[in-house]
Amino acid sequence: MTDFHELALKRQSCRDFADRPVEHEKLVKCVETARITPSACNAQPWSVVVVEDSAVVPEVAKLTQQLGINEYTSKAKAFFVVLEQYAKLMPKIASLIDGQYFAKGDLGAFTVSLCLEAEAQGLATCILGLFDRPRLRELLKLPPEQPIFIVVAVGYAAKDFIRPKVRKPLEEIAKFI
Ligand SMILES: Cc1cc2nc3c(=O)[nH]c(=O)nc-3n(C[C@H](O)[C@H](O)[C@H](O)COP(=O)(O)O)c2cc1C
Repeated sequence: MTDFHELALKRQSCRDFADRPVEHEKLVKCVETARITPSACNAQPWSVVVVEDSAVVPEVAKLTQQLGINEYTSKAKAFFVVLEQYAKLMPKIASLIDGQYFAKGDLGAFTVSLCLEAEAQGLATCILGLFDRPRLRELLKLPPEQPIFIVVAVGYAAKDFIRPKVRKPLEEIAKFI
């Protein structure tokens, strides 16, 4: 049984991918795991486009390289493009009651599930918040009711080294009462 804390420590943003293809089955398993992520009122306000076609992967990579950043995505072998499905009725009602819109949090949890399952299978990922949204929408022929939430670059890490985590201390983020 994998220790979840160990897995969380191993997951890190990979910015140096190996020249090694990613197995289709591993990508499917990532989605299978993310599919069971909890969400407000079980609305599951997500879907994902898994880009693995070697003709399309470089096109997506280019669209994540605005402003000269994220150049390393040229070596990614696949991308998860996480889409928001506009929330169903129940979360909308909940949001009217206490002013919360839960879908973004649900989508964040879905994205992290994708990344942790990838890690569990020996893959490496990097979540990408900056990309050319209009051109990526065009490339993937997405309908207007499916906004892009985030892009995740996927591959195998070129090096095994795990960086120490830079995080706020526990005492700063948690209060035990
Ligand atoms: C919503 C979001 C957007 C991000 N966008 C980028 C990005 O565009 N490029 C990049 O290299 N890293 C990006 N990251 C990765 C963060 O920089 C990284 O998760 C953070 O520094 C913690 O490091 P770690 O993932 O290695 O633990 C993003 C992460 C998140 C959650």
